[in-house]
Amino acid sequence: VVMTEAAQRFVTPLAAGALVGERVFTDLFDQAQEFDVGHIRLARECDLIIVAPATADLMAKAAHGLANDLASAVLLATDKRVLIAPAMNVRMWQHPATRRNVATLKHDGITIVEPDEGAMACGEFGPGRLPEPAAVMQAIEQALAAGPLAGQPDFEAEPAHRPLFGKHVLVTAGPTHEPIDPVRHIANRSSGKQGFAIAAAAARAGARVTLVSGPVALPTPPGVDRVDVETAREMAEAVRRALPADCAVMVAAVADWRTEDYAPEKMKKRGSAPPALRLTENPDILATVAVSDKRPRLVVGFAAETEKVVEHAQAKLKKKGCDWMVANEVGTDHNPAFGTDHNQVTLITRTNIESWPTSTKAEVAKNLVNRIVSYFEEGQKTHDTDHSNTNTKQAATGS
Ligand code: CTP
Repeated sequence: VVMTEAAQRFVTPLAAGALVGERVFTDLFDQAQEFDVGHIRLARECDLIIVAPATADLMAKAAHGLANDLASAVLLATDKRVLIAPAMNVRMWQHPATRRNVATLKHDGITIVEPDEGAMACGEFGPGRLPEPAAVMQAIEQALAAGPLAGQPDFEAEPAHRPLFGKHVLVTAGPTHEPIDPVRHIANRSSGKQGFAIAAAAARAGARVTLVSGPVALPTPPGVDRVDVETAREMAEAVRRALPADCAVMVAAVADWRTEDYAPEKMKKRGSAPPALRLTENPDILATVAVSDKRPRLVVGFAAETEKVVEHAQAKLKKKGCDWMVANEVGTDHNPAFGTDHNQVTLITRTNIESWPTSTKAEVAKNLVNRIVSYFEEGQKTHDTDHSNTNTKQAATGS
Protein backbone atom coordinates (compact mmCIF):
# COMPACT_ATOMS: atom_id res chain seq x y z
CA VAL A 1 0.00 0.00 0.00
CA VAL A 2 1.23 3.45 -0.95
CA MET A 3 -0.68 6.42 0.47
CA THR A 4 -0.49 9.99 -0.76
CA GLU A 5 -0.62 12.92 1.62
CA ALA A 6 -4.27 13.52 0.66
CA ALA A 7 -5.15 9.86 1.32
CA GLN A 8 -3.67 10.14 4.81
CA ARG A 9 -6.13 12.98 5.60
CA PHE A 10 -8.97 10.46 5.20
CA VAL A 11 -7.43 7.22 6.49
CA THR A 12 -4.36 6.82 8.67
CA PRO A 13 -1.51 4.61 7.47
CA LEU A 14 -1.92 2.69 10.72
CA ALA A 15 -5.55 1.78 9.86
CA ALA A 16 -4.72 0.86 6.22
CA GLY A 17 -1.69 -1.21 7.32
CA ALA A 18 -3.70 -3.04 9.99
CA LEU A 19 -6.42 -3.93 7.46
CA VAL A 20 -4.08 -5.38 4.83
CA GLY A 21 -1.48 -6.71 7.25
CA GLU A 22 1.29 -5.09 5.24
CA ARG A 23 3.61 -2.19 5.64
CA VAL A 24 2.29 1.11 4.27
CA PHE A 25 4.59 3.42 2.32
CA THR A 26 4.04 7.15 2.38
CA ASP A 27 7.20 9.11 1.80
CA LEU A 28 9.53 9.37 -1.19
CA PHE A 29 12.12 11.16 0.90
CA ASP A 30 12.02 8.98 4.04
CA GLN A 31 15.49 7.55 4.30
CA ALA A 32 14.41 4.44 6.22
CA GLN A 33 11.63 3.55 3.72
CA GLU A 34 13.89 4.21 0.74
CA PHE A 35 16.69 2.17 2.30
CA ASP A 36 14.44 -0.81 3.18
CA VAL A 37 12.48 -1.05 -0.05
CA GLY A 38 12.86 1.98 -2.30
CA HIS A 39 10.37 3.31 -4.80
CA ILE A 40 11.94 1.47 -7.75
CA ARG A 41 11.43 -1.91 -6.08
CA LEU A 42 7.87 -0.94 -5.12
CA ALA A 43 7.25 -0.10 -8.78
CA ARG A 44 8.74 -3.33 -10.11
CA GLU A 45 8.07 -6.06 -7.56
CA CYS A 46 4.36 -6.29 -8.10
CA ASP A 47 2.03 -7.79 -10.70
CA LEU A 48 -0.30 -4.88 -11.06
CA ILE A 49 -0.75 -1.37 -9.67
CA ILE A 50 -4.22 -0.16 -8.73
CA VAL A 51 -4.89 3.47 -7.94
CA ALA A 52 -8.17 3.64 -6.04
CA PRO A 53 -9.62 6.12 -5.42
CA ALA A 54 -7.71 8.21 -7.96
CA THR A 55 -8.15 11.96 -7.60
CA ALA A 56 -8.18 14.38 -10.55
CA ASP A 57 -4.88 15.71 -9.21
CA LEU A 58 -3.14 12.33 -9.18
CA MET A 59 -4.39 11.54 -12.69
CA ALA A 60 -3.10 14.91 -13.95
CA LYS A 61 0.29 14.17 -12.42
CA ALA A 62 0.43 10.67 -13.91
CA ALA A 63 -0.65 11.96 -17.34
CA HIS A 64 2.19 14.47 -17.31
CA GLY A 65 4.84 12.22 -15.80
CA LEU A 66 5.26 14.22 -12.60
CA ALA A 67 6.93 12.31 -9.81
CA ASN A 68 7.16 14.55 -6.75
CA ASP A 69 5.69 12.13 -4.22
CA LEU A 70 5.93 8.40 -3.65
CA ALA A 71 2.69 7.40 -5.44
CA SER A 72 3.43 9.39 -8.61
CA ALA A 73 7.10 8.30 -8.59
CA VAL A 74 6.02 4.63 -8.43
CA LEU A 75 3.63 5.19 -11.36
CA LEU A 76 6.40 6.75 -13.42
CA ALA A 77 8.94 4.05 -12.56
CA THR A 78 6.77 1.00 -13.11
CA ASP A 79 6.84 -1.42 -16.03
CA LYS A 80 3.71 -3.23 -14.79
CA ARG A 81 0.08 -2.83 -15.76
CA VAL A 82 -1.73 0.06 -14.07
CA LEU A 83 -5.45 0.32 -13.31
CA ILE A 84 -6.92 3.64 -12.26
CA ALA A 85 -10.32 3.86 -10.54
CA PRO A 86 -11.20 7.56 -10.43
CA ALA A 87 -13.40 9.24 -7.83
CA MET A 88 -14.18 12.92 -7.98
CA ASN A 89 -16.89 15.54 -8.34
CA VAL A 90 -18.86 15.31 -11.59
CA ARG A 91 -17.66 18.72 -12.84
CA MET A 92 -14.05 17.77 -12.19
CA TRP A 93 -14.56 14.46 -14.04
CA GLN A 94 -16.16 16.22 -17.00
CA HIS A 95 -13.69 19.12 -17.11
CA PRO A 96 -11.79 19.27 -20.44
CA ALA A 97 -8.48 19.05 -18.53
CA THR A 98 -9.51 15.74 -16.92
CA ARG A 99 -10.87 14.51 -20.27
CA ARG A 100 -7.47 15.25 -21.85
CA ASN A 101 -5.65 13.53 -19.00
CA VAL A 102 -7.88 10.43 -19.23
CA ALA A 103 -7.22 10.24 -23.00
CA THR A 104 -3.46 10.55 -22.41
CA LEU A 105 -3.47 7.88 -19.69
CA LYS A 106 -5.42 5.50 -21.95
CA HIS A 107 -3.05 6.25 -24.80
CA ASP A 108 -0.17 5.33 -22.47
CA GLY A 109 -1.80 1.92 -21.93
CA ILE A 110 -3.32 2.56 -18.51
CA THR A 111 -6.72 1.01 -17.87
CA ILE A 112 -9.35 3.37 -16.48
CA VAL A 113 -12.10 1.62 -14.51
CA GLU A 114 -14.97 3.93 -15.47
CA PRO A 115 -16.50 5.74 -12.47
CA ASP A 116 -20.10 5.11 -11.46
CA GLU A 117 -22.90 7.56 -11.92
CA GLY A 118 -25.09 8.67 -9.00
CA ALA A 119 -25.47 10.97 -6.03
CA MET A 120 -22.18 12.37 -4.74
CA ALA A 121 -20.96 13.26 -1.28
CA CYS A 122 -21.05 16.93 -2.33
CA GLY A 123 -24.79 16.72 -3.15
CA GLU A 124 -24.38 16.79 -6.95
CA PHE A 125 -25.38 13.99 -9.30
CA GLY A 126 -23.54 12.42 -12.23
CA PRO A 127 -20.53 10.28 -13.18
CA GLY A 128 -17.50 10.46 -10.91
CA ARG A 129 -18.26 8.09 -8.04
CA LEU A 130 -15.63 5.49 -7.20
CA PRO A 131 -16.61 2.30 -9.09
CA GLU A 132 -18.04 -0.44 -6.88
CA PRO A 133 -15.38 -2.76 -5.40
CA ALA A 134 -16.84 -5.63 -7.49
CA ALA A 135 -16.15 -3.66 -10.70
CA VAL A 136 -12.59 -2.91 -9.58
CA MET A 137 -12.07 -6.60 -8.71
CA GLN A 138 -13.39 -7.63 -12.12
CA ALA A 139 -10.95 -5.25 -13.83
CA ILE A 140 -8.11 -6.69 -11.70
CA GLU A 141 -9.08 -10.25 -12.62
CA GLN A 142 -9.26 -9.35 -16.30
CA ALA A 143 -5.84 -7.71 -16.18
CA LEU A 144 -4.31 -10.71 -14.41
CA ALA A 145 -6.00 -13.15 -16.82
CA ALA A 146 -4.14 -11.45 -19.65
CA GLY A 147 -1.39 -13.94 -18.93
CA PRO A 148 0.57 -14.87 -15.86
CA LEU A 149 2.98 -12.18 -14.79
CA ALA A 150 6.42 -12.34 -13.24
CA GLY A 151 6.14 -13.96 -9.82
CA GLN A 152 2.95 -15.90 -10.63
CA PRO A 153 3.07 -19.73 -10.73
CA ASP A 154 2.48 -20.26 -14.47
CA PHE A 155 4.76 -17.49 -15.63
CA GLU A 156 6.96 -18.69 -18.50
CA ALA A 157 10.22 -16.83 -18.33
CA GLU A 158 11.20 -18.43 -21.61
CA PRO A 159 10.22 -16.10 -24.47
CA ALA A 160 9.72 -19.13 -26.74
CA HIS A 161 6.42 -19.74 -24.96
CA ARG A 162 5.32 -16.21 -25.75
CA PRO A 163 6.41 -16.14 -29.38
CA LEU A 164 5.57 -12.49 -29.99
CA PHE A 165 7.27 -11.32 -26.80
CA GLY A 166 9.16 -8.11 -27.50
CA LYS A 167 7.08 -7.34 -30.61
CA HIS A 168 4.67 -4.43 -30.92
CA VAL A 169 1.53 -5.28 -32.88
CA LEU A 170 -0.79 -2.50 -34.01
CA VAL A 171 -4.39 -3.42 -34.82
CA THR A 172 -7.19 -1.21 -36.17
CA ALA A 173 -10.77 -2.36 -35.71
CA GLY A 174 -14.41 -1.40 -36.04
CA PRO A 175 -16.09 1.19 -38.22
CA THR A 176 -15.43 4.91 -38.30
CA HIS A 177 -18.20 7.45 -37.89
CA GLU A 178 -18.11 10.54 -40.08
CA PRO A 179 -20.31 13.30 -38.65
CA ILE A 180 -22.84 15.12 -40.83
CA ASP A 181 -24.16 17.36 -38.06
CA PRO A 182 -24.16 17.04 -34.24
CA VAL A 183 -26.81 14.28 -34.31
CA ARG A 184 -26.12 12.36 -37.53
CA HIS A 185 -23.20 10.46 -38.98
CA ILE A 186 -22.18 8.17 -41.83
CA ALA A 187 -21.29 4.71 -40.54
CA ASN A 188 -20.96 1.12 -41.71
CA ARG A 189 -21.91 -2.26 -40.30
CA SER A 190 -18.54 -3.35 -38.90
CA SER A 191 -18.85 -4.68 -35.32
CA GLY A 192 -15.12 -4.72 -34.54
CA LYS A 193 -15.28 -8.40 -33.46
CA GLN A 194 -12.62 -9.69 -35.88
CA GLY A 195 -10.14 -6.93 -35.05
CA PHE A 196 -10.67 -7.33 -31.30
CA ALA A 197 -10.16 -11.11 -31.61
CA ILE A 198 -6.85 -10.50 -33.43
CA ALA A 199 -5.70 -8.01 -30.77
CA ALA A 200 -6.58 -10.56 -28.04
CA ALA A 201 -4.73 -13.38 -29.83
CA ALA A 202 -1.62 -11.24 -30.35
CA ALA A 203 -1.62 -10.24 -26.67
CA ARG A 204 -1.92 -13.91 -25.65
CA ALA A 205 1.10 -14.64 -27.84
CA GLY A 206 3.06 -12.15 -25.72
CA ALA A 207 3.02 -9.08 -27.98
CA ARG A 208 2.54 -5.54 -26.77
CA VAL A 209 -0.68 -4.68 -28.57
CA THR A 210 -2.11 -1.28 -29.45
CA LEU A 211 -5.71 -1.51 -30.60
CA VAL A 212 -7.05 1.59 -32.34
CA SER A 213 -10.80 1.16 -32.36
CA GLY A 214 -13.70 2.99 -33.93
CA PRO A 215 -17.05 3.16 -32.08
CA VAL A 216 -17.94 -0.42 -31.04
CA ALA A 217 -19.72 -2.08 -28.13
CA LEU A 218 -16.95 -4.49 -27.13
CA PRO A 219 -14.86 -4.86 -23.96
CA THR A 220 -11.10 -4.31 -24.24
CA PRO A 221 -9.31 -7.68 -24.48
CA PRO A 222 -7.02 -8.37 -21.50
CA GLY A 223 -3.55 -6.95 -21.79
CA VAL A 224 -4.35 -4.75 -24.81
CA ASP A 225 -3.74 -0.99 -24.94
CA ARG A 226 -6.84 0.49 -26.53
CA VAL A 227 -7.21 3.90 -28.14
CA ASP A 228 -10.78 4.91 -29.01
CA VAL A 229 -11.42 7.11 -32.02
CA GLU A 230 -14.47 8.16 -33.98
CA THR A 231 -13.50 9.40 -37.44
CA ALA A 232 -11.08 8.14 -40.11
CA ARG A 233 -8.87 11.16 -39.58
CA GLU A 234 -8.70 10.48 -35.82
CA MET A 235 -7.85 6.85 -36.59
CA ALA A 236 -5.07 7.95 -38.96
CA GLU A 237 -3.61 10.20 -36.24
CA ALA A 238 -3.85 7.49 -33.54
CA VAL A 239 -2.11 5.02 -35.86
CA ARG A 240 0.62 7.56 -36.61
CA ARG A 241 1.17 8.08 -32.88
CA ALA A 242 1.24 4.32 -32.20
CA LEU A 243 4.10 3.68 -34.66
CA PRO A 244 6.73 2.26 -34.69
CA ALA A 245 5.39 -1.28 -34.62
CA ASP A 246 6.72 -4.61 -35.84
CA CYS A 247 3.43 -5.62 -37.38
CA ALA A 248 0.27 -3.74 -38.35
CA VAL A 249 -3.02 -5.53 -38.93
CA MET A 250 -5.55 -3.10 -40.34
CA VAL A 251 -8.94 -4.67 -39.82
CA ALA A 252 -10.98 -1.47 -39.45
CA ALA A 253 -13.72 -0.74 -41.97
CA VAL A 254 -12.58 2.84 -42.45
CA ALA A 255 -15.18 5.10 -44.05
CA ASP A 256 -13.90 5.98 -47.51
CA TRP A 257 -15.63 9.35 -47.48
CA ARG A 258 -16.57 12.06 -45.02
CA THR A 259 -18.89 14.98 -45.56
CA GLU A 260 -17.21 18.05 -46.92
CA ASP A 261 -19.43 20.48 -45.05
CA TYR A 262 -20.02 19.49 -41.43
CA ALA A 263 -23.08 21.40 -40.18
CA PRO A 264 -22.33 22.75 -36.69
CA GLU A 265 -26.08 22.87 -35.89
CA LYS A 266 -28.65 20.12 -36.48
CA MET A 267 -29.81 20.26 -40.09
CA LYS A 268 -33.53 21.09 -40.34
CA LYS A 269 -36.08 19.96 -42.90
CA ARG A 270 -36.32 22.96 -45.17
CA GLY A 271 -38.99 22.96 -47.88
CA SER A 272 -39.31 19.70 -49.80
CA ALA A 273 -35.83 19.08 -51.20
CA PRO A 274 -33.60 16.94 -48.97
CA PRO A 275 -30.09 18.34 -48.56
CA ALA A 276 -27.35 16.96 -50.81
CA LEU A 277 -24.29 15.56 -49.05
CA ARG A 278 -21.00 16.53 -50.63
CA LEU A 279 -18.43 13.86 -49.86
CA THR A 280 -14.68 14.05 -49.81
CA GLU A 281 -12.17 11.20 -49.57
CA ASN A 282 -10.63 10.15 -46.27
CA PRO A 283 -6.93 9.34 -45.95
CA ASP A 284 -6.09 5.71 -46.72
CA ILE A 285 -4.52 4.67 -43.41
CA LEU A 286 -3.21 1.31 -44.62
CA ALA A 287 -1.58 2.76 -47.76
CA THR A 288 -0.03 5.57 -45.68
CA VAL A 289 1.43 3.12 -43.14
CA ALA A 290 2.79 0.91 -45.94
CA VAL A 291 4.95 3.72 -47.37
CA SER A 292 5.76 5.45 -44.06
CA ASP A 293 9.36 5.72 -42.91
CA LYS A 294 8.19 3.85 -39.80
CA ARG A 295 6.71 1.03 -41.89
CA PRO A 296 6.20 -2.10 -39.75
CA ARG A 297 8.05 -5.12 -41.08
CA LEU A 298 4.76 -6.91 -41.71
CA VAL A 299 1.73 -4.93 -42.93
CA VAL A 300 -1.54 -6.85 -43.18
CA GLY A 301 -4.73 -5.46 -44.70
CA PHE A 302 -8.29 -6.78 -44.73
CA ALA A 303 -10.36 -6.56 -47.86
CA ALA A 304 -14.11 -6.54 -47.45
CA GLU A 305 -15.71 -7.48 -50.75
CA THR A 306 -19.16 -8.44 -51.91
CA GLU A 307 -18.03 -9.98 -55.25
CA LYS A 308 -14.84 -11.17 -57.05
CA VAL A 309 -13.31 -11.41 -53.59
CA VAL A 310 -9.84 -12.74 -54.43
CA GLU A 311 -9.42 -10.68 -57.59
CA HIS A 312 -10.28 -7.42 -55.85
CA ALA A 313 -8.20 -8.28 -52.80
CA GLN A 314 -5.12 -9.04 -54.92
CA ALA A 315 -5.49 -5.69 -56.65
CA LYS A 316 -5.77 -3.99 -53.25
CA LEU A 317 -2.65 -5.75 -51.94
CA LYS A 318 -0.64 -4.26 -54.81
CA LYS A 319 -2.28 -0.85 -54.76
CA LYS A 320 -1.88 -0.37 -51.02
CA GLY A 321 1.63 -1.85 -50.81
CA CYS A 322 0.95 -4.28 -48.00
CA ASP A 323 2.51 -7.72 -47.50
CA TRP A 324 -0.63 -9.75 -46.89
CA MET A 325 -4.28 -9.20 -47.53
CA VAL A 326 -6.97 -11.13 -45.69
CA ALA A 327 -9.93 -11.17 -48.04
CA ASN A 328 -13.42 -11.76 -46.82
CA GLU A 329 -16.78 -11.69 -48.42
CA VAL A 330 -19.13 -9.43 -46.46
CA GLY A 331 -22.81 -8.78 -46.36
CA THR A 332 -23.77 -11.81 -48.48
CA ASP A 333 -25.96 -14.73 -47.44
CA HIS A 334 -22.95 -17.01 -47.93
CA ASN A 335 -20.76 -15.07 -45.48
CA PRO A 336 -22.53 -12.18 -43.71
CA ALA A 337 -19.35 -11.58 -41.58
CA PHE A 338 -20.42 -8.13 -40.29
CA GLY A 339 -21.71 -8.45 -36.74
CA THR A 340 -21.60 -12.27 -36.64
CA ASP A 341 -19.17 -14.51 -34.77
CA HIS A 342 -18.03 -16.44 -37.86
CA ASN A 343 -15.92 -15.60 -40.85
CA GLN A 344 -14.59 -17.21 -43.99
CA VAL A 345 -11.36 -15.65 -45.20
CA THR A 346 -8.67 -16.11 -47.83
CA LEU A 347 -5.10 -15.23 -46.93
CA ILE A 348 -3.34 -13.64 -49.90
CA THR A 349 0.40 -13.09 -49.76
CA ARG A 350 2.60 -11.90 -52.59
CA THR A 351 3.22 -15.49 -53.66
CA ASN A 352 0.31 -17.51 -52.32
CA ILE A 353 -3.47 -17.70 -52.05
CA GLU A 354 -4.96 -19.80 -49.30
CA SER A 355 -8.63 -20.20 -48.56
CA TRP A 356 -9.47 -21.03 -44.93
CA PRO A 357 -12.65 -22.85 -43.92
CA THR A 358 -15.48 -20.98 -42.21
CA SER A 359 -14.67 -20.74 -38.51
CA THR A 360 -15.19 -18.47 -35.52
CA LYS A 361 -13.55 -15.07 -35.61
CA ALA A 362 -11.47 -16.20 -32.61
CA GLU A 363 -10.10 -19.12 -34.67
CA VAL A 364 -9.40 -16.91 -37.68
CA ALA A 365 -7.52 -14.60 -35.29
CA LYS A 366 -5.52 -17.46 -33.81
CA ASN A 367 -4.56 -18.81 -37.24
CA LEU A 368 -3.52 -15.39 -38.45
CA VAL A 369 -1.42 -14.77 -35.32
CA ASN A 370 0.24 -18.18 -35.81
CA ARG A 371 1.13 -17.07 -39.33
CA ILE A 372 2.53 -13.82 -38.01
CA VAL A 373 4.64 -15.79 -35.49
CA SER A 374 6.00 -18.00 -38.32
CA TYR A 375 6.75 -14.95 -40.45
CA PHE A 376 8.91 -13.43 -37.71
CA GLU A 377 10.55 -16.78 -36.89
CA GLU A 378 11.41 -17.36 -40.56
CA GLY A 379 12.76 -13.83 -40.83
CA GLN A 380 14.89 -14.41 -37.74
CA LYS A 381 16.31 -17.67 -39.15
CA THR A 382 17.12 -16.02 -42.47
CA HIS A 383 18.63 -13.12 -40.61
CA ASP A 384 20.78 -15.44 -38.47
CA THR A 385 22.10 -17.40 -41.43
CA ASP A 386 22.11 -15.12 -44.44
CA HIS A 387 22.21 -11.36 -44.28
CA SER A 388 22.07 -10.67 -48.00
CA ASN A 389 18.92 -12.73 -48.36
CA THR A 390 17.18 -10.81 -45.56
CA ASN A 391 18.07 -7.54 -47.20
CA THR A 392 16.57 -8.66 -50.50
CA LYS A 393 13.45 -9.79 -48.67
CA GLN A 394 13.13 -6.47 -46.86
CA ALA A 395 13.62 -4.54 -50.05
CA ALA A 396 10.91 -6.62 -51.67
CA THR A 397 8.45 -5.72 -48.92
CA GLY A 398 9.48 -2.11 -49.08
CA SER A 399 10.62 -1.94 -45.46
N1 CTP B 1 -8.32 1.11 -45.23
C1 CTP B 1 -7.65 2.13 -44.59
N2 CTP B 1 -8.03 3.44 -44.80
C2 CTP B 1 -9.07 3.72 -45.63
C3 CTP B 1 -9.75 2.66 -46.28
C4 CTP B 1 -9.36 1.38 -46.05
O1 CTP B 1 -6.72 1.88 -43.84
N3 CTP B 1 -9.42 4.98 -45.81
C5 CTP B 1 -7.84 -0.28 -45.02
C6 CTP B 1 -8.79 -1.17 -44.28
O2 CTP B 1 -8.55 -1.13 -42.88
C7 CTP B 1 -8.48 -2.53 -44.87
C8 CTP B 1 -8.06 -2.22 -46.30
O3 CTP B 1 -7.70 -0.85 -46.30
O4 CTP B 1 -7.37 -3.14 -44.25
C9 CTP B 1 -9.10 -2.46 -47.33
O5 CTP B 1 -10.30 -1.84 -46.98
P1 CTP B 1 -11.55 -1.90 -47.95
O6 CTP B 1 -12.66 -1.10 -47.32
O7 CTP B 1 -11.82 -3.32 -48.33
O8 CTP B 1 -10.95 -1.19 -49.23
P2 CTP B 1 -11.08 0.25 -49.81
O9 CTP B 1 -9.74 0.86 -49.91
O10 CTP B 1 -12.09 1.02 -49.05
O11 CTP B 1 -11.56 -0.06 -51.29
P3 CTP B 1 -13.03 -0.20 -51.93
O12 CTP B 1 -13.92 0.73 -51.14
O13 CTP B 1 -12.81 0.24 -53.31
O14 CTP B 1 -13.42 -1.64 -51.81
